Amino acid sequence: MSIGKLLPHDAAALHVTGAARYTDDIPLPADALHLAFGLSTCAHGAITAMDLAAVRAAPGVVAVFSAGDWPEMPDCSPSLGDEPLLATGEVHYVGQPVFLVVAESHLAARKAARLGKIGYDERPALLTVEAALAANSRFEAGPVVWARGDAAAAIARAPQVVEGQFEVGGQEHFYLEGQVAAALPQEGGDMVVYASTQHPTEIQHKVAHALHLPMSAVRVEVRRMGGGFGGKESQGNHLAIACAMAARATGRPCKMRYDRDDDMVITGKRHDLKIGYRAGFDATGRILGVEFTHLFRCGWSQDLSLPVADRAMLHADNAYYLENIRIESHRLRTNTQSNTAYRGFGGPQGVVGIERVVDHVAHALKLDPVAVRRRNFYAEMETGGPSAPPRPPEDISGQKMTAGAFRAEAPGTGHRYGGAHSPKTLVQTTPYGMPVEDFCLRALLDDLERSSDYVARRAEIARWNEGSRVLKRGIALTPVKFGISFTLTWLNQAGALVHVYQDGSIRLNHGGTEMGQGLFLKVAQVAASVFGVDVAAVKITATDTAKVPNTSATAASSGSDMNGMAAQAACLTIRDRMAAFMAGKFGVEPAQVRFEGGMVRVAGEAFPFAQVAAWAYQARVSLSATGFYATPKLQWDRVKGQGRPFLYFAYGAAVTEVVIDTLTGENRILRADILHDTGASLNPAIDIGQVEGAYVQGAGWLTTEELVWDGKGRLMTHAPSTYKIPACSDRPPVFNVALWNRPNREETVGRSKAVGEPPFMLGISALMALSDAVAACGDGSAYPALDAPATAERVLAAVRRQVSDV
Ligand code: MTE
Ligand code: MOS
Repeated sequence: MSIGKLLPHDAAALHVTGAARYTDDIPLPADALHLAFGLSTCAHGAITAMDLAAVRAAPGVVAVFSAGDWPEMPDCSPSLGDEPLLATGEVHYVGQPVFLVVAESHLAARKAARLGKIGYDERPALLTVEAALAANSRFEAGPVVWARGDAAAAIARAPQVVEGQFEVGGQEHFYLEGQVAAALPQEGGDMVVYASTQHPTEIQHKVAHALHLPMSAVRVEVRRMGGGFGGKESQGNHLAIACAMAARATGRPCKMRYDRDDDMVITGKRHDLKIGYRAGFDATGRILGVEFTHLFRCGWSQDLSLPVADRAMLHADNAYYLENIRIESHRLRTNTQSNTAYRGFGGPQGVVGIERVVDHVAHALKLDPVAVRRRNFYAEMETGGPSAPPRPPEDISGQKMTAGAFRAEAPGTGHRYGGAHSPKTLVQTTPYGMPVEDFCLRALLDDLERSSDYVARRAEIARWNEGSRVLKRGIALTPVKFGISFTLTWLNQAGALVHVYQDGSIRLNHGGTEMGQGLFLKVAQVAASVFGVDVAAVKITATDTAKVPNTSATAASSGSDMNGMAAQAACLTIRDRMAAFMAGKFGVEPAQVRFEGGMVRVAGEAFPFAQVAAWAYQARVSLSATGFYATPKLQWDRVKGQGRPFLYFAYGAAVTEVVIDTLTGENRILRADILHDTGASLNPAIDIGQVEGAYVQGAGWLTTEELVWDGKGRLMTHAPSTYKIPACSDRPPVFNVALWNRPNREETVGRSKAVGEPPFMLGISALMALSDAVAACGDGSAYPALDAPATAERVLAAVRRQVSDV
């Protein structure tokens, strides 16, 4: 069985040797042209004049386009149709594309793009959520409100109340491969597009729309991305459409690649927001009522902001049963980049809100925050699902497994997960009415608390801090519960196309895209398992809209769940045909034909898979099939905020320890311990990589990654010189990651769980640990009220506040 094996990423060697082919590496015909945008330098205004003479005269320039050069301006929006490719009369943010340069080389296009002279009649720009709120600048008539119970009344009755407001910064995707696309004109006006995109079907759809072609005339191919992280769900549309328009106009292949600074200035990021909260609780830390206000800064166009803000609301409970809750969500339109999907898709913004509340409550009661977390957890159900023990680890050379991974827990050791003898408990529902049937965080937390030695370390840190004047340490344990499925229900479908050739080799196509997350390998493992062959026998191929149509973005962490199932279905169709053929040949029942170890076993004999493929071909048995999957059980009413938007939840928890320098605010993560629920992992090596990467990216969001705009709406942090993503040296020096390797109770592929996004939210423990360290300054009576990202500057300011309170 290939499923469950620790296999290295299929392209690992290609990645590290530089041999992996990305979109920019695809050889183009010699007459290919290169594109660059001329950008707005004004945050909001009307274009009064445009002098592009110098652009046209620049060396190597073949064509220049701006509004008016085309009978209609193509739209790039994934939602509302509110994103013209080039500004039409007005500009809405600094960095908005205004004109398009087509030149003989990448450099010539970029140089020429700087020569445009544009006059603006400047209008007041809305740069902050406060300004947008005051101007009632938003994408809907008013805020979206979802509620359960009566939060205001519960808070009024509660013995104690905490309230506050805090800022949570945005985040640049910083995919290592920037946005890039190329369009190659074909005979009859057809177009072939190569793009670095998580959503080939969307590119196909938008290019077809721009060119007035049926979708069948446009083919989009993507072999891999050098990272997407949500930033390539919609933000690549502009480049692909620009290339297609220029390719049609010139009849030559066109390629566009953003320079890093342009990429950061033009494209949308994670939504920053302000979170207001008020919570009433009792002396044990039980939250009786909570109210949240989310002020989302969406930027100038709608993009995916509504579903992102929805998902924040859907994760405002995180792991806690909140009987009385009210969430008011404002999706505010501002004159900044159009914020977009980013790992977690709003979920992290929702989770950080309730984690802050729990932390604040614990501080007010002088309780260990972990006790307050446990106090509010959802009840742990008898699952009724499979209760198989966790999978044992398998070793592969070079893969360092953390001691303690896959600890097997014998049934009856106090763990209630799936225990056949645990008492039936009432199923609690989320505020949006979904039963939480798979809650495992109580047991998972017990395990992590033990393996990380949390209790003893917390006591040791408190003692150490007593004796340390300048340096203070802090520790925090935070959990995550993350809903898996697209909240737009119809997106939960996937397709695959599998061919077995007469030599027994297998070619696998499905609708998912590879961005480094290991999806292609996981799906190949699924296919190999069905045929009982080695994974090396399965050819992994580029995603191609001509092979699998109508795909969803590879997003919402559902890539392996959905494409794995679709591929499995296709493979089973072929295997069943082969089994029926062999059964007929040997006079047995098809069920008696077995595919394992690269052989087909029947009637006491064993034949190589390739031999059986050749026989089946000669017997005119079809060895090609499509597969399809639609996620079951989903039903969701977005307007009411009620239903079952998710098939299941993925869980995890992290303990982070930090140290701060109270004189400078400088800080480090000293150690992180993680236990994360991947269901029965399809590939623990890949999954551990996902957990590690997600944690570091999540911690970066909340600590060093600060986006700064000036008063004119110009992004000041538009390069790695000023925008600080975590470097290798920033990873925790002690980093223990283990998987809670128990089967999903839902019937997912191999009973695995999605892993791409959920562990991102484990980075929240870094913010809470910094808050804990700050709380150790002064007399500890004031809650640190640390904003995110908790940069050295913010930590220092928080320390000063603590000390001046004394
Ligand atoms: N891992 C890598 N290496 N690169 C990425 O761009 N994107 C993340 C996550 N892990 C990403 C990644 C995001 S935002 C999502 S939604 C999932 O991968 C998508 O892939 P999956 O559905 O196959 O997990
Ligand atoms: Mo991920 S934000 O769903 O691409």
